[in-house]
Amino acid sequence: MSDLDTIIANAQAAFAAAATPADLENAKAVFLGKQGQLTELMKGMAALSVEEKKTRGAAINVAKQAVEGALTARRQALADAELDKQLKAEALDVSLPGRQRGQGGLHPIALAWDRIEQIFGSMGFDVADGPEIENDWFNFTALNNPPNHPARSMQDTFYVDMNDEEAQPYCLRTHTSPMQIRYATAHAKKHANDAVFPEIRVIAPGRTYRVDSDATHSPMFHQVEGLWLGENVSFKDLKITFLNFCKTFFEDDGLVMRFRPSYFPFTEPSAEIDIQFSKGPLAGRWLEVAGSGQVHPTVVRNMGLDPEKIIGFAFGSGIDRLAMLRYGVNDLRLFFEGDVRFLSQFR
Ligand code: PHE
Repeated sequence: MSDLDTIIANAQAAFAAAATPADLENAKAVFLGKQGQLTELMKGMAALSVEEKKTRGAAINVAKQAVEGALTARRQALADAELDKQLKAEALDVSLPGRQRGQGGLHPIALAWDRIEQIFGSMGFDVADGPEIENDWFNFTALNNPPNHPARSMQDTFYVDMNDEEAQPYCLRTHTSPMQIRYATAHAKKHANDAVFPEIRVIAPGRTYRVDSDATHSPMFHQVEGLWLGENVSFKDLKITFLNFCKTFFEDDGLVMRFRPSYFPFTEPSAEIDIQFSKGPLAGRWLEVAGSGQVHPTVVRNMGLDPEKIIGFAFGSGIDRLAMLRYGVNDLRLFFEGDVRFLSQFR
């Protein structure tokens, strides 16, 4: 074996014995490093003749390529082995069942709320939204319910200390009716100079608060207010609108409705609206679903409108109650307990 063949064989053996990339780099130095065996042979050629240099140089180069080839092959083999090891260590068992992520759904009150907006929207009603902390003017006085009026006791609520310039008491709104004043006042201002008064047709769903708590009352509940005002809007329109809403909301074409005389300071005349289902477990029973009436002239005036010209109706209905009737829920508190077994039934 020539000296070059021996070097090649030694290099191959040394590379094969290297178990890690670091070992391999050390082994490389022995043959190809600055003082490596092949490098030394190259240096030794200085003493040779030109002719000898050619043949010897070529031979050394062939040997060098062989050693480099063996080095590259071993490097690749070590890298492959490393990757293999890593893949094995990080292997995923794709047959393991994953952690369940329950699918969420909308709360029944949100479902009812959406439906209400959709149905009234289809009848041309705008949707308005307003503050839950309301001042005395909007919640009571503007609605023809002045301080010390006995009708205020119909709605006891939570009062809030606020620094108001006008030193007005603030409360958590007891109903969505303040939105009648807020919306109509803004509308009246906006259209003050219009030749023809554009009708107001709006619903205002939202949270309301009263000091009340049992199976059918909760201190926080939801109402939807309705208001339709124009130059020629009558009780007939209220009846058609609300009946149409109920038939659609409860999916009962045979549903019937009645007005029962009542009292609210902000409507005159006033009526409770009762409905009767034509089918289902509650069929045949009269169920109260809303308060309503023709908007009182004083209220129309407080909106900045002329009660001699503008008339119409308002109604207020409990969204929780509508949801209870639609979904057959008999205890209002279920809506607020957050029990997944209850809620998942509405997905
Ligand atoms: N705001 C009344 C209530 O909460 C309901 C109502 C609204 C009555 C509009 C008449 C007109 O009881």
